[in-house]
Amino acid sequence: MSKAIQISKFGGPEVLELKEINLPKLGPKEVLLKNSSIGLNFIDTYHRSGLYPLNLPSGIGVEGSGVVVEKGSDVKLFKIGDRVAYSSMPIGAYSEIHIMPEEKLVSVPNDISHEIASSMLLKGMTCEYLLHRTYKVTSKDTILFHAAAGGVGQIFCQWAKKIGCKLIGTVGSEEKIEIAKKNGCDHVINYTTDNFAKKTLEITDGKGVDVVYDGVGEKTFEGSIETLKVRGMFVTFGNASGPIKTIELKKHIAPKAIFITRPSVFPYTSTREELEMSAKMVFEAFKEKKIKMEIVKKYSLSEARKAHEDLEARKLKGPAIILT
Ligand SMILES: NC(=O)c1ccc[n+]([C@@H]2O[C@H](COP(=O)([O-])OP(=O)(O)OC[C@H]3O[C@@H](n4cnc5c(N)ncnc54)[C@H](OP(=O)(O)O)[C@@H]3O)[C@@H](O)[C@H]2O)c1
Repeated sequence: MSKAIQISKFGGPEVLELKEINLPKLGPKEVLLKNSSIGLNFIDTYHRSGLYPLNLPSGIGVEGSGVVVEKGSDVKLFKIGDRVAYSSMPIGAYSEIHIMPEEKLVSVPNDISHEIASSMLLKGMTCEYLLHRTYKVTSKDTILFHAAAGGVGQIFCQWAKKIGCKLIGTVGSEEKIEIAKKNGCDHVINYTTDNFAKKTLEITDGKGVDVVYDGVGEKTFEGSIETLKVRGMFVTFGNASGPIKTIELKKHIAPKAIFITRPSVFPYTSTREELEMSAKMVFEAFKEKKIKMEIVKKYSLSEARKAHEDLEARKLKGPAIILT
């Protein structure tokens, strides 16, 4: 048995229920781990609302860090007592005990706490691929990142700044401006009060930016395309304000011959080599102080509903976690 958050229908935060669940029999290549700390991610709200459909009833959550307590007969990579973290399906991280395939786990270095690992792995690996693989950002680039005071924003902006590019960030309120600056933004625009596309073009002397990283989606889409330079790249990696409705070749892509990609951390870490490489880059960036982690809020498992309410109400100014 394990305490776990379950949903039996899609909807608002109220569909999250804390239950005692029976655990299935461990498969030969599976590991049973005791979660110490769980990552709170915007994708959890898409799963809960049904934007990204799940088979119901279902657990929720894709990121956690804990200790191996039992292993299947054919598990080779880990032993009982190992400290491990994950950022992947199968869903169900909001739980005391979680079963994961061994190939989806990474070792957590001894000098990194479970709290830090679970606040950083999914968001950090996302930043790793966005900055180094989707588009290889260099010191010559000027880039725009939306929601620069958010969870991914905290890590992305610090890491981008270490690369030495010119970084423009957007935020939704005045109080988040200082946070985005502290994270490393050279310029911060409040996109609820200012026209961010116009301001970005002013900052870049009308040239536009090399890349836009857009996790906001519907609300920022048109403006993001406007801010791009000729042959720039639009990276749409999330839907915090709702999904983009339509992308038109003639209207959005052809005029400046831009590139559009819709990446996700899962296909960027789908092989064992990629997962190990990406996690290593994140843990090293943390140890080398390229990124500092400030966990802005810690919830208990029974407060999962409140955690989702706060995240969707834009109250969180950085990464948050759920403790078991
Ligand atoms: N594709 C991937 O691999 C991947 C991986 C991780 C995360 N993501 C995406 O990255 C984005 C950030 O994720 P996160 O977990 O770090 O969340 P987060 O940035 O902490 O929270 C989302 C932020 O989006 C902004 N936002 C703008 N309009 C919003 C609206 N209508 N409702 C709610 N928020 C709104 C808010 O910042 P302001 O108040 O400053 O506007 C809010 O704080 C999400 O879209 C997520 O899905 C994608």
